[in-house]
Amino acid sequence: MKPKILVTREVFDEVLDYLTRYFDVTSNQSDIPFDPSTLTEQLADKEGALITLSDRIHADLLARCPNLKAVCNIAVGFNNIDLEACTQARVMATNTPGVLDDTTGDFTWALILATARRLSEAEAYLRAGQWDGWKLKQFLGLDVHHATLGILGLGRIGQVVARRAIGFQMEVIYHDVRQATQEVEETCRARYVSKDELLQRADVVTIHVPYSAATHHLIGENELKRMKPTAVLINASRGGIVDDSALIEALRSGIIAGAGLDVFENEPLFNPGFLELKNVVLAPHIASSSRNTRYRMAMLAAENLVAALTTGKPPNLLNPF
Ligand code: DGY
Repeated sequence: MKPKILVTREVFDEVLDYLTRYFDVTSNQSDIPFDPSTLTEQLADKEGALITLSDRIHADLLARCPNLKAVCNIAVGFNNIDLEACTQARVMATNTPGVLDDTTGDFTWALILATARRLSEAEAYLRAGQWDGWKLKQFLGLDVHHATLGILGLGRIGQVVARRAIGFQMEVIYHDVRQATQEVEETCRARYVSKDELLQRADVVTIHVPYSAATHHLIGENELKRMKPTAVLINASRGGIVDDSALIEALRSGIIAGAGLDVFENEPLFNPGFLELKNVVLAPHIASSSRNTRYRMAMLAAENLVAALTTGKPPNLLNPF
């Protein structure tokens, strides 16, 4: 008999075909996220699961799923998985590093340019039929070229963003929990500075750190006050790293000039204050969403699941035990 697995959300047909070769697959192709108790029920008799960031894996669920051996996230971020609880329950957890770096870096640049040049605001104005002609001072924005880019977190995605900044002839400064190697700094033409210096000097602050207790509200009222009033903040990493209420207040009162956001606290719930603001560019967590990349993410997660349940050695194991 093939091991039973659950695919919690809609995936590409090729991914399901691949999994069906190895497993007895139950899949939620209707793509409506399972509520926590349905997820637990659905997983109760399964050995593995292909999950997404909307599925929370925690100790209570694991206690009710005695057959579970592997949970494979279709995401590089894994703050939806309690890794310690997985290790205690001897459940392997995996993610999808590497395959989405370039695409997420590209989208970060879409947010940087759209925010600095006020693209959403200008498009809304045009669509509303308000444009009555060229004006010298219309939608004056921030020059991105030759500006200073401040990157919080020079990991894989932060490095992609830094390398693309070379084309814009920007000065790149970064802060991270530890300084990158000389080779990385040279390739990225990035200089290590304190978080304070970064906030004070950057024209564009972009966040590329994982979400954890240590990065919760890494950017809040105090940090926003340190930024230049002309600066913009970009977040394509995780909701919760920025204090959304503090950001709304900073955008409302002109403490900073704008923000470009792909992620929010308590997604998909959304602080309605953002909708009242013109100086924010909003996207529904799509930074990695190119056709190729989402396919590669889902296939890599499926490969992790196959390896976990056949060899016990998935390539992207997060919790070796
Ligand atoms: C990730 O991989 O963590 C992304 O946020 C998913 O879109």
